[in-house]
Amino acid sequence: ARITYVEHDGTEHVVDADPGTTVMEAAIDNGVPGIDADCGGVCSCATCHVYVVSDPQPDLPARSGAELEMLEFAVGRQDNSRLSCRLVVSHDSDELVVTIPESQI
Ligand code: FES
Repeated sequence: ARITYVEHDGTEHVVDADPGTTVMEAAIDNGVPGIDADCGGVCSCATCHVYVVSDPQPDLPARSGAELEMLEFAVGRQDNSRLSCRLVVSHDSDELVVTIPESQI
């Protein structure tokens, strides 16, 4: 899948991610700044917060109760906020664009 990460200043990072990878893991593996993932991907830190801006959106897992609870702690939360450690890429053909909150740059 092709994931485009857009920093708050507009800098783009385009990454190829295998199906089964999370948007957080792909960012860490490719040195994308702004996604700290302090908890290592177990949905307990909210430092992997991103905004999903793709239109149309690819097939993404729905928000779980745990994700919604942790998003309460995310600075600058919006309707399209997600925790990137919860976003598993499903297909090679998926294209996803996320922006990184200003507070994480
Ligand atoms: Fe900690 Fe996603 S990496 S909540």
